[in-house]
Amino acid sequence: MDTPFCQFGAKDSLRSICQGLLSATGNLVHLGVSSAPTKSALSYNHENRSYELFEKFFHHIIGLYHAPKHRIGQLARIKAQIKILDSTTISLCIKVFDWARYRKTKGEIKMHTLIDYDFIHRYFYLCLMSYLNRRPRRNRISQAVRNLAEETTLLPQNLVFPLFLLPGENKKEAISSMPGISRLSLDLLLKEVEQCMKMGVQAFDVFPCVPDELKNQTATYSYAEDNFYLDALSQIKQRFPESWLMTDVAMDPYSSDGHDGLVENGHIVNDKTLEILGKMAIAQAQAGADVLGPSDMMDGRVGFLRETLDKAGFTQVSIMSYTAKYASGFYGPFREALNSAPKFGDKKTYQMNPANVKEALLEAQLDFDEGADMMMVKPAMCYLDVIKTLADQFPIPIAAYQVSGEFSMLHAAAQNGWLDLERVMVESLTSIRRAGAQVILSYFAKDYARWYKTTRS
Ligand code: PBG
Repeated sequence: MDTPFCQFGAKDSLRSICQGLLSATGNLVHLGVSSAPTKSALSYNHENRSYELFEKFFHHIIGLYHAPKHRIGQLARIKAQIKILDSTTISLCIKVFDWARYRKTKGEIKMHTLIDYDFIHRYFYLCLMSYLNRRPRRNRISQAVRNLAEETTLLPQNLVFPLFLLPGENKKEAISSMPGISRLSLDLLLKEVEQCMKMGVQAFDVFPCVPDELKNQTATYSYAEDNFYLDALSQIKQRFPESWLMTDVAMDPYSSDGHDGLVENGHIVNDKTLEILGKMAIAQAQAGADVLGPSDMMDGRVGFLRETLDKAGFTQVSIMSYTAKYASGFYGPFREALNSAPKFGDKKTYQMNPANVKEALLEAQLDFDEGADMMMVKPAMCYLDVIKTLADQFPIPIAAYQVSGEFSMLHAAAQNGWLDLERVMVESLTSIRRAGAQVILSYFAKDYARWYKTTRS
C-alpha cells in the first residue's frame, strides 16, 4: 500500500490538519469539515516536552481527548505521515515544530485494529463535525427528564384482569403455579373487582372453573339456565355497571374432551362448534357481558357470532377476538387453574403454529372483515412482532394476552431470587405496550395498578 504523506504549514488549524490526515489516508477524503471542534486535541506534555496531539487524538479514537484551548495557538507546524501497515494497523509518524520554542518533537504511534474505516470515519466525524454534541445520556440524567423522554406509558386502564370463578360461596383456592392468583367464589370475586376498580383497572375477563360432573361432549352447561358463571356475570355487571366485562367463548371449560371445539371421531369439527358457541355467546350477552372473547380459533366464528348477536338484538355487545392465538406451551398453569387440559391430543389443528406471522395477518384480515371490535394476540412476550404487525396494519385496538405461563415463569424466577419481580413485571408489560398492544390482559393487572399508584401518581 502507498505511504501517504501530508504536511501542514504554520497556523494550520487543527481542523485542516485533521482534514489533511483524513485525505492522506485516501479512504476518508470526502469527509468535509464544516465546523471545527471548539477544543483542540493538541496537548503539550511538560514531562517529556512533546506534543501529544495525535497520540491523544488517536488514543481517544478509543476515548476522546480535549486539550486546553490556549494550546492551539502554540501549534506551528506539523508533519504527519500515515502508513497503512497492514489490514489492522496504521502507523502515524508525526513531527511537531514548535516555533515558539524552537524545538521539534517526533513520535510514532501504532494503532492496532483501527483500520476499520467506518470506525475511524465515525470518530473523526465525531471529533471534527459534531464533537459529541449529541449525548443521548443527557435525556437520562434524572428521573424527571427520563419521565419526559419516556415513549411508552402503560396506564392501569389499559389492562384487563383475568379472574377465575368458582361456584359456591366464600371459597378461595390458590393456584399453585400462579402465585397470588386464586380461584374465587362470586362473593370474593366481587371484592377483588372492587379493589381493582379503585386502583384504576376497569376491565375483567372472567373464566369459570366448571366441576367435572357438569361437563359433557357438547358443552351444554355453557348456556344452561342455572349456570353459575352466567349468574356471576350478571351480578358483577349489576354491582359495577361502569366496568368492562369480558367473557371467554370456547368450549374447553365445559367440555369433557377439554377441547375448544366439538370432538367427533377424534376431530375437532368446525361448523358444528359454531352453533354451540353461538348459544354460549347469546347466554353471555344476556347475562350482561360487554365484550365476548372467542378464544376457540374456529374458522368463521367472529362473523357467525356477530350475526348471531345482532339478530338477537345484542348489537351493543363487542367482540374481542383471539385473532392470533398460538398453540403455545405457555398455557399450562391456566389449564391447571381450570382443570381444562385437552383429554387427548393437542390444540394444533386450530391454534396457530408459533412459527407463523403471515398467517396471523390472514386471521386478522378475516376477523376484521367479520366485524371484530378488537383483535388479540396470545401469548404476548414471544409474539411481540405479531402484535406490532397487527397494530401497524389494522385500524382497531390490538390486544395482547400475557398468559399464565408468562406470569408464572417470572414469578418462579423471582422466587429463586433470580429476577426482581416488580421490575420484570413493569418491563414485560411495557414491552407489550411498546409493541403496539393498546389493551393487555395480564394476571399482573392488579399488581401493576398498585405499582403505578405508588410510583406514578
Ligand atoms: C381457552 C383459553 C385458554 C386461555 C384463555 N382461554 C387456554 C387454552 O387455549 O388452552 C389461556 C390463558 C392463559 O394461559 O393464561 N380457550
